[in-house]
Amino acid sequence: MDETKIHQGCIIGEDFKAGHNVIIDEGCVIGKDVKIDSNSCLARRTIVGDGTFIGPGVITLNSKTMEREFDESMRGPKIGRKCRIGAGAIIFPDIRIGDGAWVGPGSVVTHDVKPGSIVVGNPAEPLPGSEKKKTEDWKELHG
Ligand SMILES: CC(C)(COP(=O)(O)OP(=O)(O)OC[C@H]1O[C@@H](n2cnc3c(N)ncnc32)[C@H](O)[C@@H]1OP(=O)(O)O)[C@@H](O)C(=O)NCCC(=O)NCCS
Repeated sequence: MDETKIHQGCIIGEDFKAGHNVIIDEGCVIGKDVKIDSNSCLARRTIVGDGTFIGPGVITLNSKTMEREFDESMRGPKIGRKCRIGAGAIIFPDIRIGDGAWVGPGSVVTHDVKPGSIVVGNPAEPLPGSEKKKTEDWKELHG
């Protein structure tokens, strides 16, 4: 966890694991058994559910209008339980990523993502045939 920084006001669940140079900005809530890989940066007030994996270089955002100063209305995304977020994905402010969803690497997630789906691209769209990706996590969450 070299150079990983968890800023004030964050709540971090048990069994948290981080790579190097991860930044978790103020007021984030991270569930249990979350892994965040190196060089990822979570904007203030990002929420991450239990058992989620966040790949390297992922960025979450909390201001659509790129204000210079933080204000109380700003919200990071809410990422559900047992999600998998591919390397280098960018996730827009205040959107919801449903439980068990996957985000492909390099995707720009601008809208809510349905539970258990896979989205890829810019803007991120559902990947046709992604039903085949019903992992054990998915079965546990969605039956
Ligand atoms: C997104 C993912 C889970 C989909 O896996 P899959 O269902 O086996 O699908 P495929 O990889 O065969 O891709 C299916 C199609 O989507 C496209 N695609 C896959 N990921 C994409 C992405 N991130 N952006 C744009 N297109 C993508 C592929 O090019 C392919 O297109 P084609 O059918 O025209 O050839 C997988 O491609 C992936 O990238 N996993 C995450 C890797 C990662 O980030 N690891 C980080 C931890 S080390």
